[in-house]
Amino acid sequence: MRLQGKTALITGGARGIGAAIAAAYVREGARVCVADILEAEAAETAQRIGNGSFSCRLDVTKQDSIAACVSEVEQHAGGIDILVSNAAIFDMAPIGEITEQSYDRVFSINVKGLLFTLQAVAQSMMARGKGGRIINIASQAGRRGEPLVAVYCASKAAVISITQSAGLGLIKHGINVNGIAPGVIDTEMWTVVDGLFAKYEGLPIGEKKRLVGEAVPYGRMGKVEDMTGCAVFLASPESEYIVAQTFNVDGGNWMS
Ligand SMILES: NC(=O)c1ccc[n+]([C@@H]2O[C@H](COP(=O)([O-])OP(=O)(O)OC[C@H]3O[C@@H](n4cnc5c(N)ncnc54)[C@H](O)[C@@H]3O)[C@@H](O)[C@H]2O)c1
Repeated sequence: MRLQGKTALITGGARGIGAAIAAAYVREGARVCVADILEAEAAETAQRIGNGSFSCRLDVTKQDSIAACVSEVEQHAGGIDILVSNAAIFDMAPIGEITEQSYDRVFSINVKGLLFTLQAVAQSMMARGKGGRIINIASQAGRRGEPLVAVYCASKAAVISITQSAGLGLIKHGINVNGIAPGVIDTEMWTVVDGLFAKYEGLPIGEKKRLVGEAVPYGRMGKVEDMTGCAVFLASPESEYIVAQTFNVDGGNWMS
């Protein structure tokens, strides 16, 4: 029960990695606001994990939506102790085929959305004066570019960079900002990833997913549950002295 009495806001918490972290936080005693653009799924997840958890419709690309969500958590739970910024989308195309629309969509959710959610929550934490924990979900894609994935890779490199800047800027307020860079994790996002690789690399559906899983040094693709240990640790008192870092949780894929 390392998070007893804490309140966590998890963006993109309706499903996948966010939902697994939400369930793990509840097991450690926290209550969670499951915030997602998928309103019904977010409500179902909050209901399922229990312990007074609740949901909030959130579109991280909209400042008023972020402000409304933060104020809902403040009213409901008295304040936010932990933010997990997990909401993101994937897209890919060869360099010559990247569209402005795809770039704007990916960056508005993965980078702008993450930055302004972090800002709003940090302001709330500073006003409350109890410090806090902010955990940004980056990706191994942010560690190294890929020929077909320039925009998503750049968006996740930006997440690692924002984690460094915000980590350095907020620690004096007792707010630890750190990140997690997952490797390849079996979620619904991989339906999109696999379909796009099939299109651009001429692979049968399912083949890219099989290949990347096989290539992980650990021997398989990650499960959402593989992400929860680090997420609990970074929210717990045990990680107090860790500031502005991003941890690879990827079965050995990258070393940095
Ligand atoms: N699955 C992987 O292999 C993998 C690898 C590395 C990093 N990641 C990262 O992990 C995080 C979770 O990914 P996942 O695999 O669980 O994907 P997912 O698609 O299952 O979950 C993403 C969630 O974000 C929500 N979301 C999307 N746009 C939103 C918006 N504008 N406002 C609020 N919520 C929004 C979605 O509705 C969804 O619930 C993402 O940041 C992703 O980039 C995933």
